[in-house]
Amino acid sequence: MPAKMIPWSLPARDTAWQTRRGGELLEEMQTRRSCRYFSEKPVEAGVIERAIEIAHTAPSGANRKPWHFVAIDDPQLKREVRLAAEQEERTNYSERFPPAWLEALEPIGTDANKAYLEVAPYLVVLFRVDYEIHDGNKIQNYYPMESIGIMSGFFLMACHMLGLATLTHTPSPMKFLRDLCQRPANEKPILLIPVGYPADDAVVPDIPKKPYRDALTWNR
Ligand SMILES: Cc1cc2nc3c(=O)[nH]c(=O)nc-3n(C[C@H](O)[C@H](O)[C@H](O)COP(=O)(O)O)c2cc1C
Repeated sequence: MPAKMIPWSLPARDTAWQTRRGGELLEEMQTRRSCRYFSEKPVEAGVIERAIEIAHTAPSGANRKPWHFVAIDDPQLKREVRLAAEQEERTNYSERFPPAWLEALEPIGTDANKAYLEVAPYLVVLFRVDYEIHDGNKIQNYYPMESIGIMSGFFLMACHMLGLATLTHTPSPMKFLRDLCQRPANEKPILLIPVGYPADDAVVPDIPKKPYRDALTWNR
């Protein structure tokens, strides 16, 4: 049955406001970096929940919100995640990554050591839910891949806007996360995101960024 339609609008903004706000937002987003050196400084759990609540506002195919968040702050579980991730990454770096991939990773300076997985106060695992079971019936979700990608962006941006550092981490294959988090078979771990404050001596690779104009075409 079609839903009842309700009035909806946005606050009126003029071009001057949009120009100023756009500049501010750009400046703020340009300071986002992937963080691999976290501080142990605690973050209120409510702040993490708020970032998740913000991410959960993302659009999704047929409004299904085909995702599940697992927020980890238990040191024992963080340790288990670190050990399992490092085991996969050791195989990735020594056997699975082809030479071209290793070459692409070289400037970023990553390796199989994932100490930050125990240092960051939170690990947030984003699970994609491809289908749901209701009353014993399998209900397919729509565009789950696209939906979780959009939602992940919302989450990363929310964390950044709240002054928190994140790392978009994919220690693949990530099935170990489903096992460790005891999630059901219809949930597939897509991203493992440490969240917290950067360490006082944090560094990031000084890597070139493709100018946005190279990624934009107006019309044909
Ligand atoms: C889908 C995806 C997977 C990524 N996986 C990893 C990862 O497993 N480990 C890691 O250290 N960084 C990972 N990154 C972070 C990228 O290396 C990083 O975004 C890129 O180098 C640009 O740096 P910046 O985020 O600081 O701008 C990933 C990023 C994306 C979008």
